Amino acid sequence: MTVRAGREFLAVPGPTNIPDEVLQAMHRPAVEIYSEPLIALTDGLLRDLGKVFGTATRPYIYIANGHGAWEAALTNLFSRGDRILVLESGRFAVDWGDAAARLGLEIEVLEGDWRRAVRPKAVAACLRADKRIKAVLAVQIETSTGVANDIAAIGEAIRAVHHDALYVVDTIASLGCVPFAMDAWGVDVAVAASQKGLMSPPGLGFVAAGNRAREAHRKAGLRTPYWDWTVRDGELHYHKYSGTPPVHLLFALRKALDMMLEEGLDNVFLRHRLLAEAIRRAVAVWKRGGVLDFQVAEAADRSDAVTAVLMEGADPNRLRVYCETKCGVVLGRGLGKLKDKAFRIAHMGHINAPMVLGTLGVIETGLGALGIAHGKGGVQAAVEWLSESVKP
Ligand SMILES: Cc1ncc(COP(=O)(O)O)c(C=O)c1O
Repeated sequence: MTVRAGREFLAVPGPTNIPDEVLQAMHRPAVEIYSEPLIALTDGLLRDLGKVFGTATRPYIYIANGHGAWEAALTNLFSRGDRILVLESGRFAVDWGDAAARLGLEIEVLEGDWRRAVRPKAVAACLRADKRIKAVLAVQIETSTGVANDIAAIGEAIRAVHHDALYVVDTIASLGCVPFAMDAWGVDVAVAASQKGLMSPPGLGFVAAGNRAREAHRKAGLRTPYWDWTVRDGELHYHKYSGTPPVHLLFALRKALDMMLEEGLDNVFLRHRLLAEAIRRAVAVWKRGGVLDFQVAEAADRSDAVTAVLMEGADPNRLRVYCETKCGVVLGRGLGKLKDKAFRIAHMGHINAPMVLGTLGVIETGLGALGIAHGKGGVQAAVEWLSESVKP
């Protein structure tokens, strides 16, 4: 017996739920790729992506996923043997560092235990001890753990030690979910992708580069034709994509950005914050049963885009399978060290109160059906939080 029917609800941290309007925006023929409307479309996208990144520079759009955007940043900035500092708070920063190592960079990892955000003081200490470090690689929201790193504070710590390292930030799971201010926070390069907070299909990677990054780019020995910023800065529109533009993905992204800008970025961020807190209220109640717990130890380090929930003495995969097969809600699985130990609830991009309350209700249903000990009234706590904070 199941109670699933109709559209499956994706509560996984990417790809996320794509609004119908965005899906429909792709339902049209391709256009001639040298035409004026397409040039204007690119122009508008670069301008509006810049707004979301909080930068006056124009980002680059790649036909790529997040791994491609990572590689774009690395190859445009560095040469073999350059030393970079990777800030660990989950799996993705480490994977980015591994990609850098495979490109021939020397990697130093500031190790983290996956339960806390990176401490800016620890970054400063690493930099003080090593003047050879060419760049610091950080992830704003670590999707594997749900850690939210304080990108502004880490930037301040880098500047406070008067170190020349470039500051390179992965906003793949955070852009469009929480504030990001590349220029104001002293970030030299920011990378993102289309399939999470930006509510679009997977397939587009974005990289924004400031002046110091462009300076480093001139001397970078790892540059390759497809990723190269200089090539993409060429005069022809065709150069902007190093070939045929991904027209349908651009149509989708245009619609998604229109929706976000119409809602207002501040509202988008507030919506994420309120709904994330609703989830945290529910988890805090479930935790009383002694089986479930937050992966991220301190409340201040928990992200507004994804929450990882640890399970001790019960199998998170059984819960995930129940939620998916019986109720049509797909939860994220535990990654890396958290494989078989946690599940993840995504609350990023196209989310609203019924989606979040529905997801929480399904999880609570699953906990009950599987006899997993949990504090009673998690959904009620989420409802009360929303009643208190979303005023008439
Ligand atoms: C923070 C972060 N960085 C990088 C990636 C890798 O992106 P992709 O899977 O699109 O290559 C992900 C994917 O989930 C991510 O969450």
